[in-house]
Amino acid sequence: TTVHFTDFEGTVRDVEANPGDSVMETAVRNGIPGIVAECGGSLSCATCHVFVREDCQAGLPAPSEMEDEMLYGTAEDRQDNSRLSCQIRLAEGADLHVTTPETQV
Ligand code: FES
Repeated sequence: TTVHFTDFEGTVRDVEANPGDSVMETAVRNGIPGIVAECGGSLSCATCHVFVREDCQAGLPAPSEMEDEMLYGTAEDRQDNSRLSCQIRLAEGADLHVTTPETQV
């Protein structure tokens, strides 16, 4: 299970993840810049915003209504591929590419 984080400058960091963890937990544990996750995953801060690469989106469950609402409060404007990374659970063997926004406060 691997997550590939690309920052706004194009630097890629490949991280081994534990299945069942969220993308946010994986990022925080590995010191990935650009993911603040102020609320610790309780879906109330929107500072764990990421953009999911188009071809990885199909494998993910759709955002909940709450996540969808929170995505309107992100520091960097939401795009079609925006997600809150604390809401993405990694399945066994997942190989996910995400980009972190330039601003996340
Ligand atoms: Fe706060 Fe994801 S960590 S909403």
